[in-house]
Formats: sequence, C-alpha cells, structure tokens
Amino acid sequence: MQPRVTAKIAFLPGDGIGPEVLNEARAVMKTISKIGRIRFEIVEADIGGAALEKGNTPLPERTREICLNANAVLLGAVGDPRYQSISSELRPERGLLDLRQLLGNYANLRPIFVFDSLVGASPIRARIVRNVDIIFVRELVGGIYFGEPRTLHRDKAVNTEIYSTDEIRRVARTAFTLARDRRKKVTSVDKANVLETSQLWRTTTEEVAKDFPEVTLEHVYVDNFAMQLLLRPSEFDVVLTTNMFGDILSDEASVLSGSLGMLPSAAIGGPIALYEPVHGSAPGIAGKGQANPIGAIASVAMMLEHSLNLGRLASLISRGISKVLEKGYRTLDLKNYDSNSTKQLRFMSTREMGELICNAIESPDAI
Ligand code: IPM
Ligand code: MN
Repeated sequence: MQPRVTAKIAFLPGDGIGPEVLNEARAVMKTISKIGRIRFEIVEADIGGAALEKGNTPLPERTREICLNANAVLLGAVGDPRYQSISSELRPERGLLDLRQLLGNYANLRPIFVFDSLVGASPIRARIVRNVDIIFVRELVGGIYFGEPRTLHRDKAVNTEIYSTDEIRRVARTAFTLARDRRKKVTSVDKANVLETSQLWRTTTEEVAKDFPEVTLEHVYVDNFAMQLLLRPSEFDVVLTTNMFGDILSDEASVLSGSLGMLPSAAIGGPIALYEPVHGSAPGIAGKGQANPIGAIASVAMMLEHSLNLGRLASLISRGISKVLEKGYRTLDLKNYDSNSTKQLRFMSTREMGELICNAIESPDAI
C-alpha cells in the first residue's frame, strides 16, 4: 500500500466572502483526504484587510514565511471598501500583488469552461457558449501593475507599463506548453497598434512560437478580442495576455461560464503555486451565506493537479461539482436566463452547496 503523503497548505481566507468560500474549500479537502492517500496540514494566515486590521501591512512577515514554507497556497479574496481611500502600498490588494511577486508566480492560469447544466445560466445564447473551453494565461508579476514610476498627485497621476523580453518569453512558454497538450492554438492578445510594450510582446511571442512548430499562433488586438470572446468563444484555446488585459478579459469571459463565482485560478511559475478563485471579496454579500463556493472548490482541484500531482482526485472534485449542478442545485449568482428551461432549480447557501459537493465527491450516486 502506498504511504499517505502530507501536503502543507498555507490557507489565506482574506476579506469579504473569502473566509466563507474557503470554509467550503476546507470541507472538500477533508473529504478528499478520506478518499485519497493525502493528508492536509492547513496553516492559516492573514492577508489583505484582515491583516491590516491587526497590523500595518497587508502581507505580514508571518504570512510570507508560512507561504514560503508551504507546498501550495490557497487564498480566498482580498479587498475591503474600508481601505478604499488609502494609498496603494497599504491597500488590501497590495498584499496579494506582493505575494504573487514573492512567490515568483508569473503565469496565471484561468480556465473558462461551461458545465452542460449551466449553458442556460449565461445570458449569451446557448449555441455560442456550448463547447467553450479556453484557458487564459495572464502575465501576473509585471506590466502596468508594477511598472515604475508610479505616482499620484493632486492634478496628475502616472502608471507605467514595462515588459522585458525575458518576462514575455517565460509566460509565453507556459502558454505554448499548455497549447501543445490541448487544441494546439495560442491567441496572443495585445494592443500592438498603439503600445510599444505590445510590439515587443508580439515579436517575442513569435520567437517563442518557433520552438513549438505544432502550435498555431494568432495575434488579436484587445479591443477586437473583447468582442470576439462573446461572438465565437469556442474557437479559442489558449489565450496569452498581459497582466492588465488578462484581469479585464477573465471577468468578461466568466459570463460564458454562468458566473464569476465559478472560476478557479492557479498562479504558477515559482516553486510554490498560489490558488484562488477569480472572484473578489464581494463586500456586498459578505457574511450572508450567498457566495458561490465553486470557484474556491475548483481551485482546490487545480491545486491537487498542478502542485500535488493528484489528477485523479482533482477529477473527482470536478465530477462532484458537475453532479450537483446537474441536479439543479445553485447559488444565487446562477439564475437561469434560458426561458425555455423547464429544469427546477434549487437555490442553496454557500454552506449547503459545499456540503452537497462533498457528498457528491464521497458517494456520487447518492446525491
Ligand atoms: C484578480 C483581482 C486582483 C487583480 C486584485 C484583487 C488585485 O482582481 O485576481 O483578478 O487585479 O489581479
Ligand atoms: Mn480581477
């Protein structure tokens, strides 16, 4: 019999709905450790507004250390309107940005797929969203998010977009490597008709493409891509783009999946990967038990697959989610736009949804 493996997980609930959705992620991890030969050692730490409440930094030293000593990091959300007017170095969001840099996770994988039972949950027509299977590869530790100079004065503010060939090359390689095992197409999204950084982005991705002759590379301007994404999303496979464009386009793409609450993500590239749902802290619904925990739960699946090499257990989670949705269980963000649908939907709280998914993972036929 194979010995049981222990994985040390830095667990960062953060702000808003972060703690609620991570509670359900934790329940799923517990279920998984009953089935598989894996044990999770969960070490909790503060980030974002939750850290600022106790100290003067959104990424305390203790949190840094815990993350650097973990096998993987799982994060809920950061962002708190109470800190809206404070300078950008001290905002909750800064904690997440610094953590991504600390871990050197330059590539953010954001898969967009549509569960069959959620085709009607998108306001976009069924024939357009059916068969969507995209993976965004968003550059995560460079670009306008981090470029210097950055200043804010009373009548003038500056941000700077910077990309080096090294930064572009490494994230492009991630995209091409993924595409090689998928439908062999990379769509690189830029604004090369206006920005020099985009011109360098284009020439550098073309160079990288030479090492992947079996993969096709296309370039699309970001404004046009924003439209194509809703017109012909099933034609895209791997979408490679900058930090800022990837942030915006992944929220747009979530409309295809039915809700932003569905999307998981993985920040990879460094030795310790960081997993988090794509949605934010959603302060408006925090503490009400209305949040969709699926993005966080699907992030656990990505963690099992990418950091712990446990693809079989990851697919049990995906199957569990799919099963629960098939039975008509939903959180409030997943209302049905399809007026022809006769399916009876049952709206559940965050906790109930997590519990249903755990049950479906443990005994798929019982639910
Ligand atoms: C995301 C978020 C973050 C980002 C914020 C919270 C800093 O919007 O992960 O998409 O802009 O990267
Ligand atoms: Mn975002």
